[in-house]
Amino acid sequence: MELAIETSHLTKVYDGKINALDGVDLTVKAAGIFALLGPNGSGKTTLMRILTTQFRPTTGTARVFGLDVVKHDASIRKIIGYVPQEMSVWLDITSFENLLIYSKIYGVPSGIRKKSISDALQSMGLDEVANVPVKKYSGGMIRRLEIACSLLIKPRLIFLDEPTLGLDPSARKAVWENLMSFKDEYGTTVFFNTHYMDEADMYSDEVAIISKGRIVKSGTACELKRSLHSEILTFSIDHGDIGSALRGPASAGLRWESSLLERIKALDFIDDASMHDSNLHVVVEDSEFALPAIIEVLRSEGITIQKIKGARPTMDDVFLRYAGMLPVKGGGKSRT
Ligand SMILES: Nc1ncnc2c1ncn2[C@@H]1O[C@H](COP(=O)(O)OP(=O)(O)OP(=O)(O)O)[C@@H](O)[C@H]1O
Ligand SMILES: [Mg+2]
Repeated sequence: MELAIETSHLTKVYDGKINALDGVDLTVKAAGIFALLGPNGSGKTTLMRILTTQFRPTTGTARVFGLDVVKHDASIRKIIGYVPQEMSVWLDITSFENLLIYSKIYGVPSGIRKKSISDALQSMGLDEVANVPVKKYSGGMIRRLEIACSLLIKPRLIFLDEPTLGLDPSARKAVWENLMSFKDEYGTTVFFNTHYMDEADMYSDEVAIISKGRIVKSGTACELKRSLHSEILTFSIDHGDIGSALRGPASAGLRWESSLLERIKALDFIDDASMHDSNLHVVVEDSEFALPAIIEVLRSEGITIQKIKGARPTMDDVFLRYAGMLPVKGGGKSRT
């Protein structure tokens, strides 16, 4: 299996005191789509800047298609494309003129310049607006132009720093559809970071989560979701049952609710339980084992269940858990 990226014990310290990367060990397979997820300030852009040879690592090593980012930086720049987080095109000129400038910066030979520009415009669905000033474009079109600029040299690996930030869902979809068809045509590896979890879920082959400069989890989106071992069961409870339990002093209703929740939380395979209006939400490790026991408790309380709904973890849940924004599970009992 060919690796597009391989880093080992990579660190980056800014100004002698900010540990932006704190020992990153990462591999990215060639020809796939790789998503890097992490909270603000976790080191995503820093890692991308090192891999694109803009910054040198403080310690550790990083290779792009086997080339060392420090020793072979010029060779790496010939095979990669990079779309930064910030805007990278000129607004007062057209797409064609932007691409012409970039093709000169990238050293695209003059004989194939026109063809490269036309391919790039077509890849990102901009051929019909090639001669319109960029200031008349929507945000989604500008982002597609920035990506088109990075595709001029038909890179083996493209880095996209938050490619769809601030775009509406249809503009985001257009960016990805164009990117995917370029990738399929040229076998390009895509490395992107994003705060849109649904994009990591839908488009990536592999995901890594970075937190405080360290990779804390990696795998496919499916593997990461499954690794949470949890599902949320929602029981819609008959209003009449709640009404009768809550009749009388308010404190009696609260006592009833908290004793019900305590009984449920004490069951095996349960991580958490809460009540909102007439919905009981239970986070379970394994619904097959947990469901009969929860139903038993509800019946013994004389509660009628109207509906049961199950929801599996999303990439949002994965992010919140591994990026250190939720406590690691501890309340539930593990299966023996
Ligand atoms: N040029 C720089 N000089 C000094 N500190 C920097 C520099 N660039 C980034 N940092 C710091 O390094 C850490 C990582 O920043 P980085 O931009 O890599 O995070 P990020 O994950 O890309 O965040 P975001 O999601 O907000 O874009 C932060 O603490 C940031 O303030
Ligand atoms: Mg960033």
